[in-house]
Amino acid sequence: MSKKNILLGITGGIAAYKMVHVASNLTKMGYQIDVVMTSSAQQFVSPLTFRSITNRSVHTDLFSESNNNEVKHISLADNTDLVMIGPATANIIGKIANGIADDLLSTIIMAVRSPVIIVPAMNVNMYNNPIVQANIKKIKEYGYQVLKPAVGILACGYEGKGRLPEPDILTEYILMNLKEKDLKDKKILVTAGPTIEKIDPVRYLSNNSSGKMGYALAKQASYRGAKVKLIAGPTNLNPPLGVQFQEIVSARQLYQAVKDSFADYDLLIMTAAVADFTPKEFSNEKIKKNAEDHLILEMKKTNDIIKELASNKKSKQKIIGFAAESDNLFENAEKKLAEKNLDMVVANDIKNNEIFGSDFTEVTILTKDNKIELNRSSKEEIADKILNLV
Ligand code: CTP
Repeated sequence: MSKKNILLGITGGIAAYKMVHVASNLTKMGYQIDVVMTSSAQQFVSPLTFRSITNRSVHTDLFSESNNNEVKHISLADNTDLVMIGPATANIIGKIANGIADDLLSTIIMAVRSPVIIVPAMNVNMYNNPIVQANIKKIKEYGYQVLKPAVGILACGYEGKGRLPEPDILTEYILMNLKEKDLKDKKILVTAGPTIEKIDPVRYLSNNSSGKMGYALAKQASYRGAKVKLIAGPTNLNPPLGVQFQEIVSARQLYQAVKDSFADYDLLIMTAAVADFTPKEFSNEKIKKNAEDHLILEMKKTNDIIKELASNKKSKQKIIGFAAESDNLFENAEKKLAEKNLDMVVANDIKNNEIFGSDFTEVTILTKDNKIELNRSSKEEIADKILNLV
């Protein structure tokens, strides 16, 4: 990963402690974090906390000595790829809106050329104050990104809009902003997760898909600027930021949903583990245990979604399939590439690979002319590499 520099500006709000978690997330990912705290922020969290988390000095003073006689606010402004100010108080928003630069953070903001994300967090009445709202409108017009505060119980006892969003969401927002928007004009449809085929009111057939690979692809594509729709069976995952999301349950519902959307997209990525068979009939009553020692459940084939679309409905689109195989990985994957008329198959060996539920995987990518092996790495990285190849 190319190391990027991120500057976190902390101003005086009770939610300042949440930014410790953001700094920790980003430091663990390998980013270099510069923390700048106003004097009010230091009333809530000690600079030592941020220093211990980021392994770097924390900047609090416009006039303290800096390395190599650099002009501190200018070198900090020049060396950052992205700034996030959170919690952003009414005070810092008002200062930025009016070009006031009277401490280290506000001076850096006047000098910085990288994108700046402002995350307001304050009492709901302060947030709704027309002066604050006018300042927010003004800074947006100047090109600052301003996030909406979350709704909930505020530290002051009020309930309403004003909370700082959770640290993991802020982290994701930063990651999204750091990505180059090289898929900006692309529309990508991704399917993910398992399907559920109901047998009776209490039982169903499903599979081990966690949905992680599909969610990673949807997320990376969206972060790279594509317009992404994710259609997914039941999983424990939260839809990624910026992605249009539709939940389905059965293979039949997935078929319908993909068919309805397909014409609007440039690329279909089918990571969903679709049931190949579904019970011929759904039993309205719970199936009772009977005297026999076995149960015969009659099944019928579902539609092969990817094959049908690739054969009948494909115009400009590219279509990528996934193949999880326990035997003859390449032969089976090559067969799927040809028989389903796909542009690419991403093959997983489920025998030698802990793919289900893991955050890591290794895959082989097959196209008509190429075979590319991607070594074991996180599903997020694999997703990025697949998108590079596309
Ligand atoms: N697929 C699909 N519709 C189905 C079954 C699978 O669109 N009814 C898609 C999957 O999403 C995947 C690709 O086809 O992208 C290959 O899925 P896989 O289950 O490996 O292949 P099958 O055709 O079901 O063959 P088999 O289960 O016999 O390996």
